[in-house]
Amino acid sequence: MVKITGIEFRNPTILASGIMGTTGASLVRMTNSGAGAVVTKSIGPEPKIGHPNPSMVKLDCGFLNAMGLPNPSYADFVNEIKIAKEGADVPVIASIFGGNAEEFVRVAEGLADAKPDAFELNVSCPHAEGYGATIGTDSCMVEAITAAVCDAVDVPVWVKLTPNVTDIKSIGKAAENGGAAAVVAINTLRGMAIDINSGYPILGNRFGGLSGSAVKPVAIKCVYDLYEALDIPVIGVGGVSSWEDAVEMIMAGASAVQIGSAVHEGVEVFADIATGIEQFLQNNGYAGVEDITGLAHEVI
Ligand code: DOR
Repeated sequence: MVKITGIEFRNPTILASGIMGTTGASLVRMTNSGAGAVVTKSIGPEPKIGHPNPSMVKLDCGFLNAMGLPNPSYADFVNEIKIAKEGADVPVIASIFGGNAEEFVRVAEGLADAKPDAFELNVSCPHAEGYGATIGTDSCMVEAITAAVCDAVDVPVWVKLTPNVTDIKSIGKAAENGGAAAVVAINTLRGMAIDINSGYPILGNRFGGLSGSAVKPVAIKCVYDLYEALDIPVIGVGGVSSWEDAVEMIMAGASAVQIGSAVHEGVEVFADIATGIEQFLQNNGYAGVEDITGLAHEVI
């Protein structure tokens, strides 16, 4: 059992925002597979088709995607969260996006009826013009959006950060100053793949965001830096596919880990990682996850 931002989780594994969070039924399936909590696909103010195909490609080192925030809008997603809340016995977190504070607030207020346990503000998509990294690299906007949503809702607000910045600590600080209860790090790392037969970039959007094992060291460093800089919890995400990865992320400073790409290899990943963490804690005489959160900072 872990408690983060006032919410209790049966274990520290959380489904990261993404394709598996597109419907209520899929969210419930993730909880039945052992996830300690689930985050929805990011939901915005208007229906959005997303970028042209191909929008996802599997590479040796992970996935490159440029989905382009496809979603049916908050008005058509409220019911999916209700389905998830009814079918799941774990917290359900609503990931939301918008182009400015007013849009974020509109989406959050529109979904409030479904009673998500927290909101995760996606200010960090690397390839969505006007919505993602253009917001998440601007500390003034991050602070203003966070403050506006915190004012409008009565549940904890998490802010998901982009690694595509030179100083993630200052963006994390802006989220904290705006009233965020936690930061989530990291969203995908901007990248590109080219098909050498055609000579064209593979993704329909030409570039996208990299996830999976290749980004793990980047995520570890971001979590490490944020843990040092902030007083609020850091939730780690990026390339976690085993309990050893999860323990590493926790030792860097994470209070819990989100799992995205690895779910595509099999949904048993949640239970496997939760059990592995538990056993590691027991074998080493630790009482809980909090005993090893940030442990790597104690090394001289
Ligand atoms: O890599 C990402 N892809 N990050 C996001 O925040 C959104 C997603 C998409 O829909 O493109």
